[in-house]
Amino acid sequence: MKIRELTVRYGKFNAVDHVSLNVPPGSAVGLVGESGSGKSTLARAVAGLVPSRGTITGIDRSKVQMVFQDPYSSLNPRMSVGLSIAEGLGPRMRRTARRTEVERLLDLVALPAAAADKYPRELSGGQRQRVAVARALAAQPDLLIADEITSALDVSVQGAVLNLIRELRTELGLSMLFISHNLAVVRYVTDTVAVMRAGRLVEAGTVDEVIGAPQHPYTRSLLDAVPRLIHS
Ligand SMILES: Nc1ncnc2c1ncn2[C@@H]1O[C@H](COP(=O)(O)OP(=O)(O)OP(=O)(O)O)[C@@H](O)[C@H]1O
Ligand SMILES: [Mg+2]
Repeated sequence: MKIRELTVRYGKFNAVDHVSLNVPPGSAVGLVGESGSGKSTLARAVAGLVPSRGTITGIDRSKVQMVFQDPYSSLNPRMSVGLSIAEGLGPRMRRTARRTEVERLLDLVALPAAAADKYPRELSGGQRQRVAVARALAAQPDLLIADEITSALDVSVQGAVLNLIRELRTELGLSMLFISHNLAVVRYVTDTVAVMRAGRLVEAGTVDEVIGAPQHPYTRSLLDAVPRLIHS
């Protein structure tokens, strides 16, 4: 996917301001930046959820799926896990095939088949986030956008969800835009990283380049906010 000069305006204010960014097929790009820098707005524009100017090429917008920070609000509380996931499969699938596919997706995100009959309230935060990922994968996306998907989770399950994302990348060869304010988390999942500030892209490169030798003072200040041990 190639994003060129993407701009999202809210009134007189550019929440995303002429951003250009490549996400090559099969690659994972991390997007970092302080709160309010426009990361989620950029994601929503790519998914076609908010109007934008500029161009996005090399991707079929119907093949973009998003996973959000809070799985509790993105899953319908009155729908069983199985139904929620099946919704993503599209209409033309027989009942038994659907059940098989739902079980395959649950297995892919390391949940037991029996989870299909549960409701979101019966699951832990980490399990709910796995369901949200399975639901996104059901649509066979070409690009998965993960927007702060571990921020709402207890530290004890964050690692498991991140490992899942890493495994899925290798297994499915997914392209991914991985958003987080946490550089340590981004570094764990992606090879390249782009840094946003006030709607603009201020720096992009391989994780080693950006974390190892940040060019922009803003990136340096972000790095300083990360505990020492991860960038030693
Ligand atoms: N629907 C909206 N209407 C008006 N302004 C908005 C709207 N959504 C976001 N904004 C503004 O756009 C800017 C970027 O918001 P955005 O949610 O993209 O930031 P973010 O980088 O995702 O922040 P965070 O790390 O806190 O999630 C902010 O100043 C925000 O107040
Ligand atoms: Mg956000």
